[in-house]
Amino acid sequence: MNPAMTAVGSAGPAEKLTESPGEARCPYLVVREPDTVREVLHRAADFSPANALEAVTPLEGPALRVLQRVGFALPPVLASNDTGTHAGIRKVVAGFFTPATVAGMEPRIRELAREAAHNAADQLDGSGHADLVQAVAAFPPAVVMLELLGLPVRDIPALKRWGLDSMELFWGWPGKDRQLELARSAADFYVWLRKLVAESLAAPGRNLFKSLAEHGLSGPEMCSLGYFLLIAGQETTTQLISTALFRLLEGSAPVGWDDAATEAGSRSVVRHVLITESSVPTWRRVAALETDLGGMPVGAGTEILLELSGNQVTAPGQGRSWPPGQAAGSAEKAAYGLVFGSGIHRCLGAKLAELEAAVIVQEASAALPGIRLRDHQPEWIRLLSFQAPRTVTVDRPPL
Ligand code: HEM
Repeated sequence: MNPAMTAVGSAGPAEKLTESPGEARCPYLVVREPDTVREVLHRAADFSPANALEAVTPLEGPALRVLQRVGFALPPVLASNDTGTHAGIRKVVAGFFTPATVAGMEPRIRELAREAAHNAADQLDGSGHADLVQAVAAFPPAVVMLELLGLPVRDIPALKRWGLDSMELFWGWPGKDRQLELARSAADFYVWLRKLVAESLAAPGRNLFKSLAEHGLSGPEMCSLGYFLLIAGQETTTQLISTALFRLLEGSAPVGWDDAATEAGSRSVVRHVLITESSVPTWRRVAALETDLGGMPVGAGTEILLELSGNQVTAPGQGRSWPPGQAAGSAEKAAYGLVFGSGIHRCLGAKLAELEAAVIVQEASAALPGIRLRDHQPEWIRLLSFQAPRTVTVDRPPL
């Protein structure tokens, strides 16, 4: 969980958060109680997603100028769209992630997962150690996403770097110099994206940008959607896999490393991480008008931080239940029901993300028996709405 949030108690359904790490102040109304979180997500007219892609730390002049120079803009299209155009655009994007398409992708996901796991095994054989974030978790979700969207599979290392940089720029607390570095990276990503959009419109066959253009989206709108989707559609899954691998190897997951080699074992650890420390632990909304929540008045413009993961149960079967007195099993079910959001903006990639994470964890466990964690205290990505260990370094114990 974000350090800004651990400072807050858990007494009421909604709490005012005033301090954040460093110098930035972060005045969110924090909503942790699951029923209240769901209520906010379902009262879309009262609580708008318009702030979904706003920078947590206001960008300063030099960083803004770098972005302006390339025409960087994120007009509302999908995640931050609170207008009547959202449903139609969502339908176009959902057409690329139907349940049948996702299920049909499983053999390809498994193929990529096996390849990655065997590469990790080769690294272990060669150098004695490997970072499973880079070797196993990073690339397959990006390849799968580009293939599903009908886009060329290229520049994956750059895409991974741009995704992480943009997450920090918009969901982190970068100082002025760091903002400038991150803005340069975001500008490079945007220029690359604009080229990709233009190229895709002229390419044969079906792809995301052709479908969006047919739906009437402008160039900047397509870039805005691509910017969000090319990050949200793969880096969040990489981060979920990274945490699952780390907890398994640390021995704190409900199943052991060897158990994760089965389908049931890998699925259960992925679900456990989603409920207890998802890669997207929070998401934002903003009060569109003066209203109330759980009997509390909420002023128009109040920024709200919803806790989607980590507050409800600590571990399947043995966690504290929420609400108090409720059986752990049903508490888990309720908790799981929020991890991909809820209502009209619910994540379009939920099924894909879970499938990818389970298959990749399963294949890594099957291909790498007997490995052990080398670094028990890795650096973590800790942003307002994203979290994961940056590395999961492993080796093989001597025989
Ligand atoms: C572990 C992985 C992932 C997590 C935890 C996650 C979580 C979320 C959350 C919390 C939201 C906001 C929901 C709301 O506002 O109610 C969201 C939105 C979204 N996600 Fe995901 N996501 C993941 C992976 C993916 C993937 C793989 C894709 C696509 C391939 C994807 C596509 C989207 C889209 C398009 C939206 C916006 C939907 C809309 O506004 O209508 N996500 N996701």
